[in-house]
Amino acid sequence: MKRAFVTGGNRGIGLAIAKGLADQGHEVLIGVRDLAAGEAAAPKMGATAVELNLTDPASIARAADQLGGVDILINNAGVLGSGRLLDDPQDFADSMAVMVHGPYLLMHHLTPHMVAQGYGRVVNVSSGWGAFSDGVAGPASYGVAKAALNGLTVAAARTLPRSVKVNAMCPGWVRTRMGGMGATRSPAKGADTAIWLAMLPDTGPTGGFFRDRNPIDW
Ligand SMILES: NC(=O)c1ccc[n+]([C@@H]2O[C@H](COP(=O)([O-])OP(=O)(O)OC[C@H]3O[C@@H](n4cnc5c(N)ncnc54)[C@H](OP(=O)(O)O)[C@@H]3O)[C@@H](O)[C@H]2O)c1
Repeated sequence: MKRAFVTGGNRGIGLAIAKGLADQGHEVLIGVRDLAAGEAAAPKMGATAVELNLTDPASIARAADQLGGVDILINNAGVLGSGRLLDDPQDFADSMAVMVHGPYLLMHHLTPHMVAQGYGRVVNVSSGWGAFSDGVAGPASYGVAKAALNGLTVAAARTLPRSVKVNAMCPGWVRTRMGGMGATRSPAKGADTAIWLAMLPDTGPTGGFFRDRNPIDW
């Protein structure tokens, strides 16, 4: 049994990841902004709620303290803002905070334990919209933040031992509040590759970008 922390685990793809890991018998903690709502929802998926606001570094530090050691970190939380870039500095700041700086700080706080115990898995839930091979085509700041998250994935994997694996993935177009109800995939389908990366064997890859369990271009 592993101990996993999933950000944005109260709904959407994060909830499906948390549920999938809990169903496999792992101990799951979910990061939630609204602790009361999280504490009401978490037991139904076999998880425990931890208060976390990724735009607030102090909240991230408190959550890390409360968590202690985890084996698996899933940086899933995300925001899709205005879709503008140079005329919306607030959206840029929020996108970078939630999808780059927050994941960076969680890795900063949580990977030393993984290194010390010789085992860790970090999964960064990214998007094909952050791929340079696709022209960083996502809505403005969102695409830039996901491209930066991809860069963080490559660089962090390089600085960590292979026993601590850091991979990015794209869930595809998923029916969530962000993806909309017209999307083609269920949350469970969107969660599958993240769960697979969370449970990689020691021989598995690190520093990669995946969709449907297959490598994709950066
Ligand atoms: N849906 C898609 O088609 C799709 C496609 C490609 C990639 N993705 C990526 O998949 C991930 C999950 O997306 P989703 O579709 O499940 O989105 P979602 O349903 O909108 O859920 C987003 C989650 O992120 C949390 N969150 C947002 N801001 C936060 C903050 N400041 N601090 C802590 N948590 C915060 C939300 O918490 P609250 O409930 O408190 O708001 C919620 O749990 C995201 O990284 C997204 O970019 C999604």
